[in-house]
Amino acid sequence: MTRAVCPGSFDPVTRGHLDVIGRTARVVEEVVVAVGSNQAKTALFSPQERVEMLSEVCAPWDNVSVRLFSGLLVDFCVSEDIDVISKGLRNGGDFDYELQMAQMNRQLTGVETLFVPTSPEWAYVSSSLVREVATLGGDVAALLPERVVARTLARAAERRAARD
Ligand code: PNS
Repeated sequence: MTRAVCPGSFDPVTRGHLDVIGRTARVVEEVVVAVGSNQAKTALFSPQERVEMLSEVCAPWDNVSVRLFSGLLVDFCVSEDIDVISKGLRNGGDFDYELQMAQMNRQLTGVETLFVPTSPEWAYVSSSLVREVATLGGDVAALLPERVVARTLARAAERRAARD
């Protein structure tokens, strides 16, 4: 049985993420969505909130589960018996960054990474741009799963109010 991990910050989960998770779930037996923290980014949601939202939007897939992780992704893969890391690629910038991580991860434990080309309609979507646009009052509803829209708009409004 092949178990794949879809790792990310998911702050918040976007329709682009769901595209990659869903397509991964069609080609492997089990997918673990692993929510990590990228120290370089200022978060909109706590890791636990991100797990909650992901669990809701991934519920329709029987073979997808959601977990929090910290530390090295390769250590999570070993402890969870994961064979392969699945990563979406939107553009050449992603490729350069992801290739380096894939090679490092393989050097560390031998875990393989498979790249999923993002569907073109989501190629420009990133959580960081969603956070920026939402926090400045822009409309991001089309880029997010329905269940995540209201929570993102509310949190962005809180941030705006705290800043102004
Ligand atoms: O959605 P993001 O911010 O691109 O997700 C990044 C994440 C959390 C998947 C990445 O930072 C990660 O794998 N962190 C775990 C720490 C780690 O293993 N670092 C070495 C990578 S070669």
